[in-house]
Amino acid sequence: MDSTKTFRQPNVFINETSGRIGFPSSTQPRVYDASTVRRTEQLTVSGELNAEAYRMLLQSAMAPISSELARVEAVLKSELQSGNASIREMLEYVGELGGKRLRPCLLLLAAKACGEPTEESVRLSAVVELVHTATLVHDDVLDKALVRRHKQTVHERWDVPSSILIGDWLFAHAYGLANRGSSTIPGRWIADAAKQVCEGEILQGQSIRHFEIGIEEYIQLLEAKTGALCAVSCSLGAWSGGGDETACHRLQRFGLKLGTAFQVYDDWLDVWGNQDYAGKTLGTDLTSFKPTLPALRALSSMATEDRLRLIQSLNQGDDAALVELQKAIIASDASDFTLAYAKRLIAEAIEQLDTLTESAAVVSLRQLALASVSRKG
Ligand code: IPE
Ligand code: IPE
Ligand code: MG
Ligand code: MG
Ligand code: MG
Repeated sequence: MDSTKTFRQPNVFINETSGRIGFPSSTQPRVYDASTVRRTEQLTVSGELNAEAYRMLLQSAMAPISSELARVEAVLKSELQSGNASIREMLEYVGELGGKRLRPCLLLLAAKACGEPTEESVRLSAVVELVHTATLVHDDVLDKALVRRHKQTVHERWDVPSSILIGDWLFAHAYGLANRGSSTIPGRWIADAAKQVCEGEILQGQSIRHFEIGIEEYIQLLEAKTGALCAVSCSLGAWSGGGDETACHRLQRFGLKLGTAFQVYDDWLDVWGNQDYAGKTLGTDLTSFKPTLPALRALSSMATEDRLRLIQSLNQGDDAALVELQKAIIASDASDFTLAYAKRLIAEAIEQLDTLTESAAVVSLRQLALASVSRKG
């Protein structure tokens, strides 16, 4: 088989015969370390969750905010409207795409951890989900992805110009919705987070073929790209629930670490995940020459001379170099390292909750954190 052709298809990264990387048992995530599990024994999380256990963990995490989440769905539906029938069709399509609603959950749970979610918390939860949706629509254009949330991506269903503009529509609508209250805080915080997401995406674009990038620099990119929106979800939740400055700051740190871990794990899923379960195009990070953590770890395990030569070939966009890189990823501890990295960040996130008064919402935030690095999609 022509491995170059294989590389060009989504999620067929690596194995020339099966078209998939296997899932060697040694790379299976196993036991969370003691500090992560601290005060979460009731979860009995002892390794990778199967689909049913993961669903139950999420359901349990969402239980304290189920009525508010239903209201967020209603707000999203009523906000995704246009007087123009063809725009309305696009908005309905992105609205019906669904998703895990992680950011609204973070916002509402952070509000509950500090007091009670208010009408403003519900409205702001819709705001963070709209911003998230906008970033996904644009990200799928950047990544030339075909599938999102088990459906055709917007640019596949329509076209690239329409999806850029509907993404802009979603961003603009989110700012308007953020500014419907009496305070200027939500608008300013949301604008700042959205700018960080854009900066992260730009930096990722600029990192393509640059496998000399350091792990620290790569993690900073992820903090901007994915951490910032989770961080603002938590800080706005704390703020809208009546939390003081310390609580807002602590929860902001929690969200930043959780979001970054979520993206590290997402990068792992891109290599070893199951596309059918994830419901989105996987396997394209490396085929599009993105230096994600598994690749950076594999490279750092190579002898200096080999590493420098491979980095240079990757820099020239050489497809044969990708084959060598994928072999290096398999031969190295890249999978274990990436999972351990995500779990370490999650342990740090959970530590941020230590100063909050223990409550059902705080338990749920821990559950969400653990689920973020056990998910299959
Ligand atoms: C996908 O986010 C983009 C990343 C930050 C990796 P989610 O995995 O939260 O996407 P949905 O909303 O559930 O589809
Ligand atoms: C982008 O990361 C996350 C955003 C901030 C939009 P990815 O490109 O890895 O996200 P997926 O895998 O397409 O969801
Ligand atoms: Mg993508
Ligand atoms: Mg992307
Ligand atoms: Mg991804």
